[in-house]
Amino acid sequence: MPSEFSFICFFVIVSLAYVAVLRLVKSTARQPSLPPGPKGIPFVGNIDIPGEYQWLYFSRLRQQYGDIVSLKVFGRLLIMISTRPLMHEIAIKRHENYADRPYFYSFEAAGWDKATALANGPAWKDHRRYMNRLFGTRQLMQRFYGVEMKEVRKFMRNILKDAEDLDHHTRHFAGAVILQMAYGFKAQEGTDPFIEKVDEAMAQFSDLLKLGTFMVDFLPWLRYLPDWLPGMGWKKTLQHYYQTTQEMKTVPFDTVERQLKAGNAAHSYVADLLGSEDFVPKQKEAIKDSASSLYAGGADTSVSQIHGFFLIMMIEQDVQGKAQAEIDEVVGRDRLPEYADRDRLPYVEAIVKEITRFHTVIPGGGSRHVMKDDILEGYFIPKGSVIMNNLWEMCHDPNMYPDPFKFKPERFLGAQPEFNPRDISFGFGRRVCPGQLMADATTWLCCVMTLALFDIKPTKGSPTEFSFAEGGSFTGDPISRPSPFKADIRPRSAKAEALIRSIDFEAD
Ligand code: HEM
Repeated sequence: MPSEFSFICFFVIVSLAYVAVLRLVKSTARQPSLPPGPKGIPFVGNIDIPGEYQWLYFSRLRQQYGDIVSLKVFGRLLIMISTRPLMHEIAIKRHENYADRPYFYSFEAAGWDKATALANGPAWKDHRRYMNRLFGTRQLMQRFYGVEMKEVRKFMRNILKDAEDLDHHTRHFAGAVILQMAYGFKAQEGTDPFIEKVDEAMAQFSDLLKLGTFMVDFLPWLRYLPDWLPGMGWKKTLQHYYQTTQEMKTVPFDTVERQLKAGNAAHSYVADLLGSEDFVPKQKEAIKDSASSLYAGGADTSVSQIHGFFLIMMIEQDVQGKAQAEIDEVVGRDRLPEYADRDRLPYVEAIVKEITRFHTVIPGGGSRHVMKDDILEGYFIPKGSVIMNNLWEMCHDPNMYPDPFKFKPERFLGAQPEFNPRDISFGFGRRVCPGQLMADATTWLCCVMTLALFDIKPTKGSPTEFSFAEGGSFTGDPISRPSPFKADIRPRSAKAEALIRSIDFEAD
């Protein structure tokens, strides 16, 4: 007969063995792994991510590793998402976890952490609320159509005067529209100091957006090294950037405040918010920051898109001809097109959509910060990782857009149009571009007006086809622009020229 003692021993041994087996099973059970990706160099990781044309590099990684790819730079995990359904899943269905922006020291030091790169929190919510309140619907946007119309007419007149300087005129036009909307200022003819300042700030912002420009974003301790050490020049650069963002923010805002006190402020984003009945002084900083955010967010992007339109029309002569024929039929040649014509110009509408897709202005999209551990498609997405989204890849995905490198407005016409690319190129979910309606209105107006009045033709040395390769038709910057090109831009007829010249006599 087994003694009571041996029974207890047996019981203890079995229990211990059970616990040990349970632990073993647990430890060997398949933990979801990180998404696949290139191995990287020991300790430093994937520091070979190129500074330019990053989307082409990520596109190659997608072909090699799949739709979700992970990379590590000095221990910081970057996760690249390459399809629209996956971005929709995380940014819309799981928005609570993916609506934040990642923290980069360089953004904070340069003063952008309070503007376009603002993290989640009450200030960011205020920004979005203010922007929605001012131009979050087509109906609200209509209040600004007058400003847009006036500026686009001046743009046409400037092209007639000197088509060689298209780049400058486009910058001036996009800057003038946004300057009036944000602050109610009429841009000075020729060169405007506010527009120059925002251009300067945006060139700096572009540097910040290039992953890896400032290694302090991956090695945070670098910021504590003394300024006099060799290789610390980046500190001065960031201080200089900070000064620029402060000037860009403060000078126009203070001017509006003074105008409001004097009772001569024009209707604008800032004036309307500061002057609204429910305004309380503690909102002032958020209004100031959000105004600079939309001012900066809208200037370079719109310029890039409009420039893209000119390049594309120059190369796609047939498309240009078809659009002009449509405008002639609907609007005629005796007057300038207006917003009210929009619904009756489906081909022009399709061109605007196709431009949005074909020339993806922000190819690398807006990055996100993962708030909590998550599983996506069976892969582990750790808290703290940076989500990046390759909008360029999505806009050129043959599964969504057959023959993606062909400029084909027809894809958006007919009974079964392809997916609307505006739902990709302006981003996703809670961080979706708040200026998309404005960008859309500006681009449409600019396209229809130019097509009605000018012929855009290639000239000696102009490209005759598109290249999406490095150094091709578009630059490798985070806000990608057409590479410099020359076009022959002339009025379509004597009547068109007369219409443009009549703009000179319009009241300002
Ligand atoms: C062609 C024109 C434009 C394009 C392609 C574009 C695209 C984008 C994209 C992709 C994002 C990131 C969204 C995300 O993280 O998912 C964004 C954010 C933003 N855009 Fe635009 N945008 C354009 C014009 C504008 C305009 C005209 C304004 C202002 C009037 C503007 C203001 C902003 C702001 C403030 C943000 C940050 C939003 C946030 O973090 O909550 N953008 N835009």
